[in-house]
Amino acid sequence: MEKEKRALVLINAYLQSESQFSQAERMKEELEKLGVRTDILRNDGFYAVVSDGKIKTELVEKYDFCVYFDKDKYVSEALEKAGLKLFNNHEAIRVCDDKMQTYIALCGKNIPMPKTVSGLLCYHENATIRKQTVDKVESLVGYPVIVKECFGSQGKGVYMAKDRTELVALMKKLKCRPHLFQETVKTSVGKDVRVIVVGGKAIAAMLRQSDTDFRSNIELGGKGSAYSLPFQTQMLCEQIAEELALDYCGIDILFGVGGKPLVCEVNSNAFFAGIERVTGVNVAKAYASHICRQVYGV
Ligand SMILES: Nc1ncnc2c1ncn2[C@@H]1O[C@H](COP(=O)(O)OP(=O)(O)O)[C@@H](O)[C@H]1O
Ligand SMILES: [Mg+2]
Repeated sequence: MEKEKRALVLINAYLQSESQFSQAERMKEELEKLGVRTDILRNDGFYAVVSDGKIKTELVEKYDFCVYFDKDKYVSEALEKAGLKLFNNHEAIRVCDDKMQTYIALCGKNIPMPKTVSGLLCYHENATIRKQTVDKVESLVGYPVIVKECFGSQGKGVYMAKDRTELVALMKKLKCRPHLFQETVKTSVGKDVRVIVVGGKAIAAMLRQSDTDFRSNIELGGKGSAYSLPFQTQMLCEQIAEELALDYCGIDILFGVGGKPLVCEVNSNAFFAGIERVTGVNVAKAYASHICRQVYGV
């Protein structure tokens, strides 16, 4: 008798939003259509225990692989080390979770991105920001300065400072959190493109535009529409997925001068409900099929 195929979809322990749940359910649905019995679990079971100098987990015996819809890097690394195959892999998730880490990883590979510098790390709440630090950011980046928390999503940790007063206020606010300073891509204010890449192929693209905010995130009021990807952008996104060894990702692309694509960020855990709705592409099916080809060769 053929061995039963078993998959785990792991979601964050504290996950609340309906859209994140439905993402897990869509994956389960598409995996089960391919004959893989799938469980959805919250990542709250302390599934990877360091004990006797080893990682103990009950998941490796039970499942052929795990669709890791969390970003908890300790659990992802531990599970992988214990022998569980993760989609995406731990290293890809780790690098994408941190925006500065992503830019550094993509450097030297002929991948265009906005001029960016990491914020100085500070370990004291009462430390003062020195004038020369502000001067340096101004001269390196120029106004308006985009300031981003390295760990953030849905536009929540992304700010714009149009003058020195706003810049200093943001530097104070973010001082003790990892952050970065970036040039504003003026030709892209309020718009960008979200591209989904699965198994090395760009399969869906959505233009996002906002009339009310420089950030085009749908969660902040941006409107999505189907978008026909220029070949150059498609190639760029596929290259990024390959460089970062991502089985699945959503890449944000800004419009540079003359429409030149510039990488804004890479999301290893991008939501796909919105882009499925707008483009009609079945992203969950494509991802499930890719995983099954990788794991079972079918
Ligand atoms: N350098 C930039 N120039 C112009 N707009 C930007 C820039 N960086 C980000 N944005 C806008 O802000 C949005 C959110 O930034 P992003 O880096 O994707 O963070 P998040 O992870 O919160 O989505 C982008 O989708 C884009 O519309
Ligand atoms: Mg984004």
